[in-house]
Amino acid sequence: MFSKIVATGSYLPEKILSNDDLAKFVDTSDEWIRTRSGIQSRRIAADHEETSDLAVAAGRRALAAAGLAAADIDLIVVATTTPDMIFPSTACIVQDKLGAGNAAAFDIQAVCSGFVYALSIVDKMVASGQHKNALVIGAEIYSRILNWQDRATCVLFGDGAGAVVLTTSQAPGILATKLHADGSRRAILNVPGHVRRGQVWGDPYVHMDGPAVFKMAVQVMADVCNETLAMANMTAADIDWLVPHQANVRIIDATGKRLGIAPHKTVVTVQGQGNTSAASIPLALDTAARDGRIKPGQVVQTVGVGGGFTWGSALIRW
Ligand code: ACO
Repeated sequence: MFSKIVATGSYLPEKILSNDDLAKFVDTSDEWIRTRSGIQSRRIAADHEETSDLAVAAGRRALAAAGLAAADIDLIVVATTTPDMIFPSTACIVQDKLGAGNAAAFDIQAVCSGFVYALSIVDKMVASGQHKNALVIGAEIYSRILNWQDRATCVLFGDGAGAVVLTTSQAPGILATKLHADGSRRAILNVPGHVRRGQVWGDPYVHMDGPAVFKMAVQVMADVCNETLAMANMTAADIDWLVPHQANVRIIDATGKRLGIAPHKTVVTVQGQGNTSAASIPLALDTAARDGRIKPGQVVQTVGVGGGFTWGSALIRW
């Protein structure tokens, strides 16, 4: 028995924050942001929206596309770095809001690699036959952990959610997955703040050594893609679509070049969304599946990289 992605869904908050809007309150410019990152605008969650609300909206769309009811889902996994609260997990809150009372639920915390980590774990849980219909969601509200005075970070991120439905299948859907971490590199990208005795200790905003993250990301993304290709006895020539973590067009371009995948085979959505961390890959999958680029039977290479440092890849037969 195998697991297979049978449907996708996504949700973006209504409010659009353009580069020009940002330049009104932080010392930056549309030209700087576009040339360094490719980002033109990002979405910002409304005050009343929680990460679970974004996740539920994306999850509902994925369920509708799969033709399943919430009661049919027996597992919900949410990848997020920006949970509604310390506990319970955002996945439990999503389970309640969706009315998916038959589902087990838990969160995965692997920052921008969270969706690939979740997909890899849920693949095993579904392929084992223990779970039949799983909802795997990446959802983030980064706008609440950004220091809006820090131009080095606040221009790069956005809010959103993406989801896939994974079901048991006779034919392989998830062909190979590989996960990595290097905790010794945690200083290059982190949010050090935490709650201690009722107070926030340490800075509760994103800190990033941009050039160090750039170098590490470019190096590991192509390597882990090659690892999953080797596991499936494939080469880059077999890939129909590369769907990488959407952090920055320069990182995406460099990864495609190192892998030998042509730009027209790479899905890029970062322009209008910014870096939505764990949500970025399922958002890109949903975009390319709905606009007809990704077709049944095709091979899709996903690759995530993020704080931890963490990275991983999932090779998918659509
Ligand atoms: N607007 C204008 N100027 C800026 C801004 C800004 N928003 N941010 C930084 N600058 C300035 C800096 O102060 C610096 O000025 P100085 O030379 O006078 O000191 C100058 O621009 C160059 O800064 P660098 O950091 O050297 O710029 P670089 O070319 O490395 O680009 C960037 C910065 C875009 C962050 C790049 O390093 C990068 O893409 N890194 C990867 C980061 C990333 O994608 N993170 C996402 C999270 S991690 C993940 O998802 C994997």
